[in-house]
Amino acid sequence: MESLVIDGGNRLRGGIRVQGAKNGALPVLAASVLGGRSVIHNCPRLTDTESSLEILRMLGCGAERDGEAVTVDASRVPRCDIPPELMRRMRSSVIFLGAVLARCGRAVVSAPGGCELGPRPIDMHLEAMRLLGADITESRGLVFCECAGRLKGAEIVLPYPSVGATENAMIAASTARGRTVIVGAAKEPEITELADFINSKGGSVSGAGSDVLLIDGVEALGDCEHVCIPDRIAAATYIAAAAATGSEITLYGVQPRHLTAVTDVFARAGCRFREDGGALTVTAPERLKAVRFIRTAPYPGFPTDAQALTAAALATADGVSVLCETVFSGRFRYLRELSRMGADVGSEGQLAVIKGVPFLSGAKTACTDLRGGAALVVAALGARGRSGISAPGHIDRGYENVEAALSAAGARIYRKSEDETDHTDGIFREASGV
Ligand code: EPZ
Repeated sequence: MESLVIDGGNRLRGGIRVQGAKNGALPVLAASVLGGRSVIHNCPRLTDTESSLEILRMLGCGAERDGEAVTVDASRVPRCDIPPELMRRMRSSVIFLGAVLARCGRAVVSAPGGCELGPRPIDMHLEAMRLLGADITESRGLVFCECAGRLKGAEIVLPYPSVGATENAMIAASTARGRTVIVGAAKEPEITELADFINSKGGSVSGAGSDVLLIDGVEALGDCEHVCIPDRIAAATYIAAAAATGSEITLYGVQPRHLTAVTDVFARAGCRFREDGGALTVTAPERLKAVRFIRTAPYPGFPTDAQALTAAALATADGVSVLCETVFSGRFRYLRELSRMGADVGSEGQLAVIKGVPFLSGAKTACTDLRGGAALVVAALGARGRSGISAPGHIDRGYENVEAALSAAGARIYRKSEDETDHTDGIFREASGV
């Protein structure tokens, strides 16, 4: 089994170019089913985006990658069922539901996969499809959605600003007959990106970024070129890495205004930030200050996806930090792995308490999920000695070649295959050029 090997305790330096947003690219790829030819630039090469291309091809679309650009040709979509083994690969497979139903009048899906973060039902997604006119039946784990003719515009009130449910409803409504109003919509930058994508194909979505979306359905969507927004959670990860190692690094290709809740927390921990156009420089202190209370919330609140990364950086802060996780009920599994490195952490219900220790020590740990795995990388970079992180496939779902990005900033990190002997010194010399 593969693992990431990290020799911690080194300062990072220089710059990191931040990848395109995973959580922006995935709904855009799903929405490309709606019609026409979509050229999607700055599309990160991740396990999840490549799974999306597999789903597109399976549906009968053309889907080709040429470096950072992906081209989808949805002039024909002959299939409308997604096999369970593809659905299970990631959460955002469910976002194909709205697109396939709108395009084909029928969609057959099953429960999506994704990180184990506690219950992740799709009731809001299905209710939105039902309000738009779909008949939905479930049998033997499959969900059958059908609609004779076009979907019909409706008023959809979301009891919680679900990102996925907002995306599914927006996509399905974009070619429905008449107007759809989504009340209580999610406001993440990825929602605005999806609206921009649909509008660039001839759709009519307004209000993105607010909690009320208006979608006037159009007959069909055409061709477009799109550039994915930067990944704000990947950016948060590298900020946490700088914070955990007392480093100064510059992030290129970021949207600082997407990161304010994150930079505010790290500023409270003692980090300083300097913006210069699309570049953001973070300068961390020798030792962070604890942050007394951090509460995750839907955008523009502190992102749940940055929770684990921040805990990893605060594990060696001066004082006690408290994290309140309000979005997912099972998002503290990584804490037990941090404890193996000497972190003094515990959780009860929605709360995690991080009592800063003078230093962490390298250890063998295992990824529990995507952002939990990234948190172990952050902790290992700041720890004394060598760490081995197994199951890095979780990390590959959301980070494009994490070891290359961090090595470029001076981290001593490399990927070790199962049968490889542990001859890391040579590898580190090669990777970091020392
Ligand atoms: C998206 O997941 C992101 N994934 C997640 O990022 C992110 O953590 C989450 O939004 C919140 O920001 C992608 O965009 C691919 P939700 P999603 O629907 O859409 C409950 C990462 O690390 N809920 O906003 O699944 C749900 O259980 C991933 O990149 C229902 O009850 O999140 C959760 O408690 C992890 N019924 C809450 O709402 C539903 O029908 C928020 O979920 C849908 C959601």
